[in-house]
Amino acid sequence: MTGVNHGANRKTPKKFPWQDYQRFVDAGTAQGDLAVQVALAHPHLAGAGFDLPEVEPIFEEYAAQNGVSDRLRFIGGDFFKEPLPQTDVVMYGHILHDWNLQEKMLLLERAYDALPKGGAVIVYEAFIDDDRSSNAFGLMLSLNMLIETPGGFDYTGADCTAWMKEVGFSETRVEHLLGPDSMVTGVK
Ligand SMILES: C[S@@+](CC[C@H](N)C(=O)[O-])C[C@H]1O[C@@H](n2cnc3c(N)ncnc32)[C@H](O)[C@@H]1O
Repeated sequence: MTGVNHGANRKTPKKFPWQDYQRFVDAGTAQGDLAVQVALAHPHLAGAGFDLPEVEPIFEEYAAQNGVSDRLRFIGGDFFKEPLPQTDVVMYGHILHDWNLQEKMLLLERAYDALPKGGAVIVYEAFIDDDRSSNAFGLMLSLNMLIETPGGFDYTGADCTAWMKEVGFSETRVEHLLGPDSMVTGVK
């Protein structure tokens, strides 16, 4: 995931007002490249990578290699079974597309519950364009998710915005990152 997403992970820190926040959780962090890039770009932040417990050693090693272990910690858990830790910003990088609509909504609710008023969620992946006509990569990836997972599918920025609003987020914004990747942000 680091190899595929490193370029866009480096853009994410620049497209969000991190100066207004202190803490973040990168949910489904894998090796943690998104968390590492955010921490490297913003030395005032402290964050956590949340993932299944077996991921911990690769996360810890990568954070240490990048010199951010003092500000990044790993939290092991299952985001369907337990709440996310309380924080100012929750990030989901290439996570929602793995799951069906009900699971996507639950993950957005988990983020909402972890945030104070004014906290933010960032959902980042290869969004399909709203007309479903030009982001061929996003469309093909969605087909791939339908084949590879029981219920996963990719979706448009408009879909994500509507789901965020249903959960209670406002001030939603869609921003292009790099190549097929964009991010959608919402504020509690
Ligand atoms: C597609 S990868 C995304 C990795 C990274 N966020 C990125 O954008 O490069 C999905 C991640 O979700 C994690 N994951 C899957 N099911 C999970 C669960 N129930 N609770 C927590 N993490 C989970 C996987 O271990 C994996 O690291």
